[in-house]
Amino acid sequence: MKAAVFGASGYGGQILMRLLLDHPQVSKVLPVSSTSAGKPVYGRDSGLGPDLNGKLSEGRTFLSRDEALEEKPDAVFSALPHGASAEFCEPFFGKSVVFDLSADFRLRDKNIHLQAYDAPAPFPELRSTAVYGLSEIYETQIRKSNLIAIPGCYPTCSLLPLIPLGREGLITSVITINSLSGISGAGRSAKEASLFVERSENSVAYNPGLKHRHQPEMIQEFNAAGGNAPIFFTPHLTPMRRGMLSTISTQVKGKPEAVFNQVEAALKAAYQGQTFINLTGSRIPSTRDVIGSNRCDIGWTVEGPINGSSMLYLFSTIDNLVKGASGQAVQDFNIRFGFPQETGLPLRGEV
Ligand SMILES: NC(=O)c1ccc[n+]([C@@H]2O[C@H](COP(=O)([O-])OP(=O)(O)OC[C@H]3O[C@@H](n4cnc5c(N)ncnc54)[C@H](OP(=O)(O)O)[C@@H]3O)[C@@H](O)[C@H]2O)c1
Repeated sequence: MKAAVFGASGYGGQILMRLLLDHPQVSKVLPVSSTSAGKPVYGRDSGLGPDLNGKLSEGRTFLSRDEALEEKPDAVFSALPHGASAEFCEPFFGKSVVFDLSADFRLRDKNIHLQAYDAPAPFPELRSTAVYGLSEIYETQIRKSNLIAIPGCYPTCSLLPLIPLGREGLITSVITINSLSGISGAGRSAKEASLFVERSENSVAYNPGLKHRHQPEMIQEFNAAGGNAPIFFTPHLTPMRRGMLSTISTQVKGKPEAVFNQVEAALKAAYQGQTFINLTGSRIPSTRDVIGSNRCDIGWTVEGPINGSSMLYLFSTIDNLVKGASGQAVQDFNIRFGFPQETGLPLRGEV
């Protein structure tokens, strides 16, 4: 199979290049760049290593979009910024299966997209055909779709523990989500806020609540799962290159032991047989465990009771660039083309 990567020089694109070059079902990888077409891929990504199996295009250079179009790729992975992504993908709609890592097709309601992104939803006529690519939740729909909107990293990290509990109607009171993100979440392009001096030895909360564009995505998907509770979301930047942790707290009716068991039963039922969901029980997972892996580790603890309710704490960790972006895109590619979900994807974290 042939796969094109748009934005192959960015962080998401670089991870896609690595995963697809090592993917046993991919025979050719087409790295596309809007600014570096014709230039060597190694000039922007010296860590890629030699092209041992000859999967890169001749000359090992970035291609233009038109050159990639001529190659008729089976799959297109777009790791471009929202706003630019859908437009760049346009000539491939209906020809290749498109995996869009941007937010261009994530929100089903075009008015909510307009509010969140301050720009009209691109290609409104295609919106209803796009599937939200949270692999473990939308497997059946992904199998049949030609346009897959890869979820954001914060929503992936927070929704995977929350959706099974929403489905079971376990959560009815306010949900507080505090998420920590590594700096690579902001992308590779140069900006003052990403400078070493700004980010090292410095953690900061930013864009709380609806000011962050991932909040409507979380509400959309929690509600779609039958969940019905207000979400208070605060993202934080913390000085690590990669990794994401969501600490989610809420009240659940019942005594602590019963709540612990209900949460365990709901998560086990939802993720039985799902390789990339690792339930750690009362052990709190850490970001280091999942860096380099496509796993989401989920732990939980319960305290109380207070006034007949218990305090539930859920902890969820992912690598923002793998399960939070490019790994999940490849997992969806595997689902869409009928390969085992694990094909070409790392399960173990780096040491
Ligand atoms: N970083 C994360 O943790 C993460 C997690 C989940 C989702 N995402 C999403 O994934 C996408 C890529 O993120 P990233 O972190 O990889 O970003 P990035 O490192 O900034 O890379 C984006 C790439 O897109 C290309 N590009 C930029 N502006 C463009 C335009 N107007 N038209 C065409 N190409 C353009 C650039 O490559 P060329 O100049 O070579 O074309 C750039 O290298 C974004 O939509 C982001 O929101 C990122």
